[in-house]
Amino acid sequence: MSVHKEAKKVTTHVLLEMKQNNEKISMLTGYDYSMARIIDAAGVDVILVGDSASNVMAGHETTLPITLDQMIYHAASVIRAIDRALVVVDLPFGSYQGNSKEALTSAIRIMKEAGGHAVKLEGGREVIESVDRILSAGIPVMGHLGLTPQSIYKFGTYTVRAKEEEEAQRLIEDAIMLQDAGCFALVLEKVPATLGKKVAEELTIPVIGIGAGNGVDGQVLVVHDMLGINNEFNPRFLRKYHNLHDEMLDAFQNYIKDVRTGDFPNENEQY
Ligand code: KIV
Repeated sequence: MSVHKEAKKVTTHVLLEMKQNNEKISMLTGYDYSMARIIDAAGVDVILVGDSASNVMAGHETTLPITLDQMIYHAASVIRAIDRALVVVDLPFGSYQGNSKEALTSAIRIMKEAGGHAVKLEGGREVIESVDRILSAGIPVMGHLGLTPQSIYKFGTYTVRAKEEEEAQRLIEDAIMLQDAGCFALVLEKVPATLGKKVAEELTIPVIGIGAGNGVDGQVLVVHDMLGINNEFNPRFLRKYHNLHDEMLDAFQNYIKDVRTGDFPNENEQY
């Protein structure tokens, strides 16, 4: 029996059962009501209100500038749209690194003001105290290891992480620590496929990859990237399911032409 098909609403327990049943988990980002309604209707398991909103919605170069208030605005819009998916909300940069009390306060705001189902935060051992504290309030936590974009100024580049044995070993230790602390799942970003598979085999919680190969328990993509809205972002891990950039450009150009020529509105399009 398929866990995915049976589940009327996706919970953290459903995701765990999916892993146990060898069913792959699908996750996409979502930031607004209209898009989230379509993603949910398509049957995705998890919608991530990612801090990638900072890039794709607000046009910032990194994920660092987005604020907790802005994340709550995006998350509330997504929550209003969904019937089935589990909605995980990123804790933005600066809202949890200070201390665990601050992390808990931020997570509570996401649950109370946006109605989120869970939060995600980046990092391993350095955030364990915060993970503990958030979990102690009954808020589910998803971890995020590998390339962690909130630390981009420490890494210096967006290249593949943990290619060297020492970093890979540390990543595995961090993944186990997050699981032992009580995280319900883990995002693994831009690491070698062999490492992704190893982490997924080592953990009992689902490991959801982005650029982490096919050996993990599920996949996540940024919705603007997979729809091809942004035609300047073409990493190897990205599969584009559409070329919306060109289709939208074409639609906008046609509209402008129709307005200019007086073709729009026609007789049927007026009162
Ligand atoms: O913010 C985001 O979109 C993410 C995904 C890339 C996993 O964290």
